[in-house]
Amino acid sequence: MEIKRVGIIMNGVTGRMGTNQHLARSITAIINQGGIRVSNDLTIMPDPILTGRRDHALKMLAEKYGNEARGESYKYTTDLQGALDGKFGDYEIFFDASGTLHRAGFIEMAVKAGKAIYCEKPTAVETKEAVRLAKLVETAGLKNGVVQDKLWLPGFRKIKMLKELGFFGKILSVKGDFGYWVFSGMDYDQPAQRPSWNYRAEDGGGMMIDMFCHWRYVIDHVFGPVKSLVAYGAIDLDERRAEDGTPYKCTADDSAYAMFVLEDGTMVQFNSSWCTRVRRDDLLTVQVDGVNGSAVAGLREVKTQSAANTPKPVWNPDIPQPIDLFACWEDVPNNIEYDNAFKIQWEMFIRHVVLGESWSYSLMEGAKGVQLAELGMQSWKERKWVDVPELI
Ligand SMILES: NC(=O)c1ccc[n+]([C@@H]2O[C@H](COP(=O)([O-])OP(=O)(O)OC[C@H]3O[C@@H](n4cnc5c(N)ncnc54)[C@H](O)[C@@H]3O)[C@@H](O)[C@H]2O)c1
Repeated sequence: MEIKRVGIIMNGVTGRMGTNQHLARSITAIINQGGIRVSNDLTIMPDPILTGRRDHALKMLAEKYGNEARGESYKYTTDLQGALDGKFGDYEIFFDASGTLHRAGFIEMAVKAGKAIYCEKPTAVETKEAVRLAKLVETAGLKNGVVQDKLWLPGFRKIKMLKELGFFGKILSVKGDFGYWVFSGMDYDQPAQRPSWNYRAEDGGGMMIDMFCHWRYVIDHVFGPVKSLVAYGAIDLDERRAEDGTPYKCTADDSAYAMFVLEDGTMVQFNSSWCTRVRRDDLLTVQVDGVNGSAVAGLREVKTQSAANTPKPVWNPDIPQPIDLFACWEDVPNNIEYDNAFKIQWEMFIRHVVLGESWSYSLMEGAKGVQLAELGMQSWKERKWVDVPELI
C-alpha cells in the first residue's frame, strides 16, 4: 500500500471556522481515520502546517490536534512566506480561513507560489474583486476551490434525493428560514457567540455577504439557476459589545429577507436573521412544496408529506385546531452514514488535486455567491427587483 503525503498550508486556523470545521473536524479527522483510502494500493495522507500571526495560539492548536491525530505536534509557523517558499518542507495546497477582507492578499501570495488554492467563502465582498481573484488563479493554471459546505448537509442531500426520485413532482416553492439569536454582549452575563466583525460592514461583515453566498450554491445545485431577486436587509441591533468588552456600533445587516425567482419560475424565499428566537425544527429549515409532495429539511433530518397523506384543513378559528398538523409527516430514514460536510468537501478537493478527479466548486463558482450578495444589497438600497447576469 502506497501512502501518498499531501502537504497543506492551513492559514487563519486559529479562528472559529478554521479550528472547528477545518482543522479539527476535517484534516485531523481525515488523519485519524487513516487518510483517504483511494484503492487497495493507495492512501492519501494530509500533512498540515499551521500558519498565522500568533505563535502561541498556533503552538497550542498544533500540539492539541497533532497529538490527537498522530502522537506529535503538527508543524506551525508565523512565517507564511517561508512556508509558501518551501522553507519548512513541500506543501502543495494553500488553504485560507482568515477574515474575508484578508483573503485577497493571501490568495495572491499563494498564486505567486504556484499552490493549489482552497479557501473559505466569501472570497471577497465585491463581485469585481471575487472575479479578479478567480481569474488570477485560473490564468495561473492552479487548481482551486471555495468552501460550499451546505451542499453536503444531510438535510440538503435528502432533499436532493427526493427531487431526483421525483417525490415532489413539479416544485412550486421553497421556503428557507435560517438563524437564531446572537447575543449582543450588552446583556448581563451573556457574551456574544459570533465574532464582532460579522456586525461591521467595514470589516467584511453582514448577513447578505455571509449567507447569500451559501444560498446561491444551494439554490443552483439543488433547485436550479437563479434569474432574479428582491431583498430587504435590516440592522436590527444598533450596538453590540466586542470580544474585549468594548461597545461598538453595528454597521452591517444582521437580518436579510429575500425572494429569488428561478429560471423555471420556482419561487425560493430565504429569511436569514441573527435576531430571531428559534421555534422550528432546526437552526435552518427549508420547506419544499411540490405538486405531488412536500418536505421540510433541518440540518440533518427531513420530513415528508405526500399528496396521498395530505390532510384537509378547514379554517375555523372558533375551535381548537382539530388536526394534529405535525403528525401528518414521515421521517426520511438515515439509510447511510452522513459524514461532516466540510470534511466531505475537503476529501473531494484533495482527490481533485492529487488524482485530478473532477471538481465543480471553483473560485469562479464562489464569485457567484458574492454576486448574489452584492445584488441583494443593491435590491435593498434601490428598493427594486434585480436580475442576475451571467458572470464574465
Ligand atoms: N462556511 C461557513 O459556513 C462559514 C461560517 C462562518 C464563517 N465563514 C467564513 O470563514 C472566515 C473566517 O470566519 P470565522 O467566523 O472563523 O472568523 P474568526 O474571526 O473567528 O477567525 C478569523 C481568523 O483569521 C485570522 N486572521 C485575521 N487577520 C489575519 C491576518 N492578517 N493574518 C492571518 N490571520 C488573520 C484570525 O486570527 C482568526 O484566526 C470568514 O471569511 C467567514 O466568512 C464561513
